[in-house]
Amino acid sequence: MTTGNAHQFSGPLYYGGDYNPEQWDESVWFEDVALMREAGVNLVTLGVFSWANIEIADGVYEFGWLDRIIELLHANGIGIDLATATASPPAWLLKNHPEMASVTQEGIRLAHGGRQNYCISSPVYKAKSTALAAKLAERYGSHPAIKAWHVNNEYGCHNPMCFCDISAVAWREWLQIKYGTLHSLNFAWGTHFWSQRYHDWSEINPPRQTPMGTSPNPTMMLDFHRFGNHQILELYKSERDAIRASGAKQPITTNFMSMKHFRYLNYFEWAKEVDFVSTDHYLISADPLSHVEMAFEADITRGFAEGKPWLLMEHSTSAVNWQDVNYAKTDGQLFRNSIGHIARGSNGAMFFQWRASISGSEKFHSALVPHAGTNTRNWRTVVELGNKVKRLEAVSGEATKPAKIAVVFDYDSWWALSQRNLPSTDIDYPDLVHEWYAALYDLGARVDFITTGFTREKLEQYELVLLPMTYLLNDADESALIEYAKNGGSLVTSYFTGISDENDHVKLGGYGGRLVRDAYGVFVEEFAPQSPDAQLTLDNGLVASHWQQWATSKDAESVIRFTEGPAEGFVAMAKKWIGRKPSWYLGTRLSPESNVAFFGTVLRELGIETAGGSGVEIIQRGDLTFVIDHNQNTVDWS
Ligand code: GAL
Repeated sequence: MTTGNAHQFSGPLYYGGDYNPEQWDESVWFEDVALMREAGVNLVTLGVFSWANIEIADGVYEFGWLDRIIELLHANGIGIDLATATASPPAWLLKNHPEMASVTQEGIRLAHGGRQNYCISSPVYKAKSTALAAKLAERYGSHPAIKAWHVNNEYGCHNPMCFCDISAVAWREWLQIKYGTLHSLNFAWGTHFWSQRYHDWSEINPPRQTPMGTSPNPTMMLDFHRFGNHQILELYKSERDAIRASGAKQPITTNFMSMKHFRYLNYFEWAKEVDFVSTDHYLISADPLSHVEMAFEADITRGFAEGKPWLLMEHSTSAVNWQDVNYAKTDGQLFRNSIGHIARGSNGAMFFQWRASISGSEKFHSALVPHAGTNTRNWRTVVELGNKVKRLEAVSGEATKPAKIAVVFDYDSWWALSQRNLPSTDIDYPDLVHEWYAALYDLGARVDFITTGFTREKLEQYELVLLPMTYLLNDADESALIEYAKNGGSLVTSYFTGISDENDHVKLGGYGGRLVRDAYGVFVEEFAPQSPDAQLTLDNGLVASHWQQWATSKDAESVIRFTEGPAEGFVAMAKKWIGRKPSWYLGTRLSPESNVAFFGTVLRELGIETAGGSGVEIIQRGDLTFVIDHNQNTVDWS
């Protein structure tokens, strides 16, 4: 059952966070709701890790505490995003079903004691989590305090893949559906290589640890990512459908992790299965450009949501507890973070968590109510932010203004590039995408994110489409991009784009396939990867590193060449009018400053307007224009 994004936000922007009342004596709950009212909290996510407190033994439920807190929140006008409580299976379940625990690539079965320990293909986990979701939906589905359903939590965060024997069976079934015949599978995986040909389905196992110095078949590994994504999505759908089947009418979501290095779930696909997109975002606090990374993640989340409003389900009021040095947020930083997310489409600002825990692994994670209580910088900021969020209510349900530039973000390419045996270990997909984004951010250019599987209509919404290392391109997408450029669109295409097809088979006759070879007329005959420390100058003065290639251009309007290195004199950049407008090919990795110079030229030539830049964001959402200055200046709120 697909719920199909039916939900449109209405009412106020949401403000609040994860609430774990089971960690506290009930007397504290009364203070909690009073403080929530003081801060303007109107939504809490309840029960994320409560399985062991709700189902205390197989089929034995203790709902009393949950009934009481739901009534108390309701009596105080606080809405609930009710979790299905399935994020972390209780000890009794793993004890009864030890085979349910996840197994690593090296064959280690993981122990209870952390969280989220289950095999993503476990029928027991699926049945038990679905049953709990159904039970909660039957009991609370018609309760007026419930505003949304929060299925599970951050799927795949700790267990994106499992290599156990149960997974092996599910994996073979998935492959049989995908390929139909072993012949097709052998072709797709290129199994004539290294004697890998399969003669019976039972010979296929998950891509477990292989002998020293070797890695699993790359296409098998790519498929294993696709399989993992599919299995976890099935877990989500099973819970979601159980909630719907109970008659509950509230919108259903699950919180994504829009974070730079979480690659395992294809959120463009997932977004089609939720009623509204929600996500979590935590700053890498040591990163001086963390606000740029944050803007990226908010923008890509808006891309998952296809431009519709979404919800920031978690961020932190101050420090987290899981980085090397957990820097506290500086004065004003929280406002800029939360409001920045709202400007980019979040229908509110939610946090992990309401009250800082006194025990457990997250006891030093910041919260809305800190250990030191309410006479604190933290609490005063939380109350002030609650007021600010309320004042922005006019944008609730409104979309952020779409951009003129689209960045293609492709999970398949990321999955293929996250493996070994590439021309260089410095090929880093998210790094290049983020570097391009950072340059555009610096220039004050806004972007939307789109994914592969292009339609003509989608591409034609944009004046400029960027392809940073879109390594896998199937025939249809390659044709769509060429057509788009021929019909008046502009492209910027990086090196290592269009190298392979959807099976990760290299396209012959010049790297980059029809797009690079025929449309751009650039013939890439050999790669010459370089050290990240290499400083490669180009004949227009720009500076690059990491990558060169022996490339020549047939008929580009202008060509920039390397002035040093093994590929000295060969094409580093080419500008070509594929259609009525110029497109650019970038055969190297420019330095941050050179990226700004390069994209600045592109924007000028195409006449794409910018606003703000250099740390100042200017974003239109609904009738409001948000101006956010990240240069540690103060902003006038009057
Ligand atoms: C998220 C998670 C929360 C909490 C938080 C800490 O990954 O959903 O439960 O652990 O991180 O930053």
